[in-house]
Amino acid sequence: MSNDKKETATLSLPGCDPITFPILAGTLGPSVIDVSHLNNDGFFTYDPGFQSTAACQSAITFIDGDQGILLHRGYPIAALAEQSDYLEVCYLLLNGELPNQKQKINFVDQIQHHTLVHEQLSNFFNGFPRKSHPMAIMCGVVGALSAFYHDSLEIKNPAHRDLAALRLIAKMPTIAAMAYKYSLGQPFVYPQNSLSYVENFLHMMFSVPTETDKINPVLVRAMDRVFILHADHEQNASTSTVRLAGSSGANPFACISAGIAALWGPAHGGANEAVINMLQEIGDASRIEQYIAKAKDKNDPFRLMGFGHRVYKNFDPRAKVMRQTCYEVMEALQIHENPLFKLALKLEEIALQDPYFIEKKLYPNVDFYSGIILKAIGIPTNMFTVIFAIARTVGWIAHWNEMLSASDLKIGRPRQLYVGLTERAFIPLDKRT
Ligand code: CMC
Repeated sequence: MSNDKKETATLSLPGCDPITFPILAGTLGPSVIDVSHLNNDGFFTYDPGFQSTAACQSAITFIDGDQGILLHRGYPIAALAEQSDYLEVCYLLLNGELPNQKQKINFVDQIQHHTLVHEQLSNFFNGFPRKSHPMAIMCGVVGALSAFYHDSLEIKNPAHRDLAALRLIAKMPTIAAMAYKYSLGQPFVYPQNSLSYVENFLHMMFSVPTETDKINPVLVRAMDRVFILHADHEQNASTSTVRLAGSSGANPFACISAGIAALWGPAHGGANEAVINMLQEIGDASRIEQYIAKAKDKNDPFRLMGFGHRVYKNFDPRAKVMRQTCYEVMEALQIHENPLFKLALKLEEIALQDPYFIEKKLYPNVDFYSGIILKAIGIPTNMFTVIFAIARTVGWIAHWNEMLSASDLKIGRPRQLYVGLTERAFIPLDKRT
């Protein structure tokens, strides 16, 4: 394949005339070769894992993994995490611009007034065993929202889409906290409109009807940053799942439920939970060297959880902010001496100095620090992926909305390289060996 200066690429195939493709340039990042008409010539491209495939055009998030850049609507993630708050970032992702004061007040007010869930929805929880993984509950209950909110299901109506977006962002923390309370056998705690988004979530998680939890502002800020840093990450597996489900015309609650299911996988949303499990397995600083040796051993499948990244090969820009927040939380809670956190800091120190990790550019990623922060806040490990799902809901819905607003919407339908049997004659049952 060759490129000429007229922004086209030409493909030479045996027995065919050369095929020319337009090259499309984005505003940032690599250009893409538009192969959408290749099947007219009888060919498909083959790209398992979509490593070289852009499946859509998007104006929401830009990532440059080599440079460690993550922009939402053009704003660097560090600026958003340091100077903004989660609901402002939600507004930005959904609308393309940061809100002015009036727009922000209005948006926060709308979110606050959608936090309650239909009372009948609470009956769903009783159908789950108390030991259910909260992500199993989230998949079911979020999907079930479509049975309750019929006035936000018309996907071609922008007003319905906006209402669904508000509802999902507002209700995810409520449903998540209900899943947690259910696992404890405690009564559900209703949302409080006087509290901020994060305060309200912590209130629903940790208060009981007999006692209101005291909310520590350092932990509120830390949780807000965890939400901001997980709000969107371009066309990852769960976002692509939401887009694919949405491309068939499925309703927003069903699509987000599909996204939650994709996020649940350990290769995607489960890494921060794996960090804590690993720290618990290591158990003591005296065993770190042994685990570092395991991580380096080619014959041992063990990897240091929370280190390395598929896209960010120099550093993860989210990890820088998370690290600072992690230290703030430890300071505020005075937990440096807690064995688990001490162990985490020691592991970070050793790995950052070890030539193997330096050479392979395996820096601590966002999940290393977010796992420690969530643990310090008192979030149980099986709720970590749920926290990720709450935060990512806005990214999912922003991409879903962008896709449905485009004029060239097509159902997502990949093709395949068939490697099965060729046609053969049917064998009657009495003739089969
Ligand atoms: N511990 C030890 N060695 C590692 C690790 C690790 N965590 N990660 C990569 N390596 C080694 C790997 O063995 C390979 O070595 P070699 O070149 O000798 O074969 C080299 O580094 C490159 O690894 P890779 O698997 O080709 O890299 P990748 O880009 O496919 O994998 C990763 C990225 C995140 C899956 C991987 O680094 C990993 O498994 N990390 C631990 C799990 C983790 O923390 N995941 C969360 C990522 S952040 C999630 C998000 O953005 O939402």
